[in-house]
Amino acid sequence: MKKKPGASTRCVHSVRYEPPRTVPVSVPIFASSTWDFTDEVLRAFSSGEGRAMAGKGDYIYARYGSPTTHAVEKALASLESAESGVVFSSGMAAISSAALSHLRAGDSFVSSNQLYGVTHSLFTRTLPKFDIKVQFADPTDMDGFEKALKKGAALIYVESASNPLMRVPDFGALARMSKDSGAPIIVDNTFMTPVNFRPLENGAAVSVHSATKYLGGHSDIVMGAACASEERCARVWDEMLRLGGCADPFQAFLLGRGLKTLALRVARQNDNAMAIASELEGAKGVARVHYPGLPSHPDHYIARKLFEGYGGMLSIDVKGGARAATKFMRALKWGREATSLGGVETLVSTPYNTSHTWITEKERLGLGITNGLVRVSVGIEDSADLIEDFKNALRAAR
Ligand SMILES: Cc1ncc(COP(=O)(O)O)c(C=O)c1O
Repeated sequence: MKKKPGASTRCVHSVRYEPPRTVPVSVPIFASSTWDFTDEVLRAFSSGEGRAMAGKGDYIYARYGSPTTHAVEKALASLESAESGVVFSSGMAAISSAALSHLRAGDSFVSSNQLYGVTHSLFTRTLPKFDIKVQFADPTDMDGFEKALKKGAALIYVESASNPLMRVPDFGALARMSKDSGAPIIVDNTFMTPVNFRPLENGAAVSVHSATKYLGGHSDIVMGAACASEERCARVWDEMLRLGGCADPFQAFLLGRGLKTLALRVARQNDNAMAIASELEGAKGVARVHYPGLPSHPDHYIARKLFEGYGGMLSIDVKGGARAATKFMRALKWGREATSLGGVETLVSTPYNTSHTWITEKERLGLGITNGLVRVSVGIEDSADLIEDFKNALRAAR
């Protein structure tokens, strides 16, 4: 009789994956960190074909990719009108890998001066360690941007709508500058999402995301993404391999599930934000509403040309400064006070003590970010409930 392997051997080796003959409707979570080698895979792996292999369904090691991460990369590339995509462990992993794959020691680059705070500190604290210099310019002043570019730049970096005032760069002008200078544009498209705006259709080379926000959409993951041509994605992926910010298959599964409802969620968030902005503009207790869908927004005419929807982010300048803003937020029944954005639930925060503590008060006020400003990430609740909630909270803040 054939000798039976010991219990330990059977424990380890008897739980085996057998590819099914039918295809599951939902993409499974491939939690394996490593895959069995075959001669062909081994040959390709040792000749450095890592990324192309994942594209062919030949997986080796989870940092290089897995069927779960690859499925969401393909979906994101399609949404962003890109050839290819790479997913990461966070938005910052996507931004750092995308930036470093386009920069070398000695380079300088031009960036918008209105950035997510940690991106700003990546540019001012981390990149200088590699002898890479950033020049900041106002993304709404194209002459200033052009002047900065003339000093020589390897890259242009902007956000498609800035936090929290939703300022929108003139992408037509930026695309011309990119073409003339040869500096590719990287756009952080987190706030607008590919449903509302696709940077690659507007002259950008790379679109990056904090997938933690709208793409995931349920405030339950931290992930990042970059979409570009296959050639650029291969460079970004290569940098990710070394920096190590690879995506986890469990999170990629949740991202894939979130993506299925992205267009529905964003359409609802666009409508809700527009309804709230229109209702609150000029309301008692409100100094100003910042929303690119309002004709009063300084970049409305650019947003109207570029965006298919104006997004789910807005900010309300509450009369009475920080105290009134806090009172307003705490009086909300549905809007929850939290720092993130892009989820199905309405979230509110005051930038002066959250997202913008990294700049001086003078700089912040200079940008128009007052102490009474409340940033709102509008959710998918019923707009009538949200409007009633915001109006009641404004009364309570007076
Ligand atoms: C516009 C924007 N970009 C990038 C990031 C960084 O993303 P993550 O927190 O997923 O690393 C954030 C985070 O808040 C953000 O708001």
